[in-house]
Amino acid sequence: MNYQHIPVLLDEVLTLLEPQPGQNFVDATLGGGGYTEALLELCAPSGKVLSIDLDKVALKNAEKVSAKHKDRLILVHGNFRDIAQHIRHNEFNNIAGIVADIGLSSFQLDESGRGISFQKHEPLDMRFDQSSQDPNSEFILNKHSTPELAKIFTEYGEEKYSHKIADHIVKARAEAPIKYTTDLNELIKSALPKPVQHKWQDTARRIYQALRIEVNHELANLERFLPDAFNLLAPNGRLVIVTFHSLEDRIVKNYFKSLAKGCVCPLEFPICKCGQTPQGKILTKKAIMASESEQEMNSRSKSAKLRAVQKI
Ligand SMILES: C[S@@+](CC[C@H](N)C(=O)[O-])C[C@H]1O[C@@H](n2cnc3c(N)ncnc32)[C@H](O)[C@@H]1O
Repeated sequence: MNYQHIPVLLDEVLTLLEPQPGQNFVDATLGGGGYTEALLELCAPSGKVLSIDLDKVALKNAEKVSAKHKDRLILVHGNFRDIAQHIRHNEFNNIAGIVADIGLSSFQLDESGRGISFQKHEPLDMRFDQSSQDPNSEFILNKHSTPELAKIFTEYGEEKYSHKIADHIVKARAEAPIKYTTDLNELIKSALPKPVQHKWQDTARRIYQALRIEVNHELANLERFLPDAFNLLAPNGRLVIVTFHSLEDRIVKNYFKSLAKGCVCPLEFPICKCGQTPQGKILTKKAIMASESEQEMNSRSKSAKLRAVQKI
């Protein structure tokens, strides 16, 4: 197995986390281990890193690549939405920084055989965690009603032809179940009005994204993760998040804003009654994007947005 993933915005993540020798960090999305490796180097000789991933293949790969730091690396198979439980279970404390690079690795997209990319002929699955009992994309496509499918495509893919595509899928599956990416691609293409059929790949990208978000509960996981991760930080600790689409970035941006906001009294109150003080200081006024040279070298970095907050 060749686990491929080029870390995105690595220098920027490290600049914001400011790792020092002896500090402890959490990498909530291990993936190819790019962030984990760098953190292990920078917090040596005594700092530790606890790294989480839903995908056992990522953990297996990390066992190999991080062998030299074995006694300072804790690998956890699990969901970052349960970060509080993972931290407690491993008696990990004094956390100087937590990073999450949300989404999927290049390996999962290109090599995992799970039907995440529309560009391969693969069975429809899309689960990051292959040991989970959650419904996969094949189940959703063959069992959900037209309105349920249309809602997924609209909310998570912002797809204009959601209803048409959902309707087409439900009619087609009455003849034969939808099993492969190539079946789904054909249905997406033929559901589109003739004049836009040549752009079917753009639509497919949005539909696949929507299904992946639904299968892996990506937005709900992020919403639960953020407050728990922030609460786990030591004073002055930093939370750094990299996202790859606007729905996730909006969640991060709004949560960080809520941390930085002090008083929540109505404007007409002459003096503050709520007594609420800011809990965090935003370190990235605007989201940080990959430099031109990084975007040239790694096209997947083009949609990445990084935001960071520091606990006060
Ligand atoms: C973009 S990759 C991370 C790449 C990593 N920063 C690196 O440098 O190699 C995202 C990883 O997060 C994992 N992941 C996605 N959602 C997760 C979740 N809710 N809990 C734990 N891991 C998750 C995926 O399985 C994938 O391996």
